[in-house]
Amino acid sequence: MDKNIDQIHKEALSDLARAIDIESIDAISTRYLGRKGIITQFLRNVSSLPVEERPLAGKKANEVKQILSQALADAEKKIKAQNLISDEGVDISLPGRKPERGSLHPVSRVMQEICNIFSRMGFDIAEGPEVETDYYNFEALNFPKDHPARDMQDTFFVSDDMILRTHTSPMQIRMMEKKKPPLRLIAPGKVYRCDSDITHTPMFHQVEGLMVDKNISFGDLKGILTVFVHQMFDDQTNLRFRPSYFPFTEPSAEVDIRCVICKGSGCRVCSDSGWLEILGSGMVHPNVFENVGYDTSKYTGFAFGTGVERIAMLKYGINDLRKFYDNDLRFLGQF
Ligand code: DAH
Repeated sequence: MDKNIDQIHKEALSDLARAIDIESIDAISTRYLGRKGIITQFLRNVSSLPVEERPLAGKKANEVKQILSQALADAEKKIKAQNLISDEGVDISLPGRKPERGSLHPVSRVMQEICNIFSRMGFDIAEGPEVETDYYNFEALNFPKDHPARDMQDTFFVSDDMILRTHTSPMQIRMMEKKKPPLRLIAPGKVYRCDSDITHTPMFHQVEGLMVDKNISFGDLKGILTVFVHQMFDDQTNLRFRPSYFPFTEPSAEVDIRCVICKGSGCRVCSDSGWLEILGSGMVHPNVFENVGYDTSKYTGFAFGTGVERIAMLKYGINDLRKFYDNDLRFLGQF
């Protein structure tokens, strides 16, 4: 036998001192105590020793075997206690559970994207109150009292004079009262109307836009809104300006884009027209300028307003507006 049992004993213990996990302890057990292990073989070979050495060698080898078995069991217990089971009794060797990561709500996402597009064109972002006075929401925007145009929007009243704003257009007035031209701003935010079905929710989001300076023309309106549509959808998206009416703009136009679903051939989403309305716009009415004290002989401007949910529905092909507000994570998790 080439190694004596004391040497084997020493080596086994020093191997064990370096063991850091259950696998290395198992390997040491196999190496020394396995069927072909070093100590097992030593014991098997005791019979080939000179007769006088056999009793002592056998006794010692059996002692080492015992000591090593015990040391292996202790080491295993210690590693298990240290590594795998926390103080609370949780088995931390189990695979972890990934914390769910949230994502932006599609409405917030689209709102941000709209703001980014206009920021790049030099528009400032302005935010204002959702509880608004009749004056800012209607009167200053050239909806006279009892004007039938007020019926275009079903209003939630807070008191006789206070309402939940029905659109973001009052921000035009608030900002023009604060600042002299030139002015280039957008106003994103929540608006409220007494309305609820597949295409209407009582609260929704709009982005208002306003640009005022000397020599602003309908051509500027068309140019800016064309850039917006091309950046929001894609630069192949056709758009058209269709005459319309709003009390605070003259002339007024609604902007349609080629149906993003059927590309213009006609489908259910566009009611076979091939076009989808996405915003209202127009040249700021002189009465509105007068209400904020702007000189109508010097300045002109354009304004527009768009519905964020509507843009999000068209961009992502969502067919029911109410999905945005069900808070179903299977829906929201897709964005
Ligand atoms: N405020 C309008 C609405 O809620 C949208 C709108 C139309 C805004 C024309 C404008 C505009 O600034 O010029 O339906």
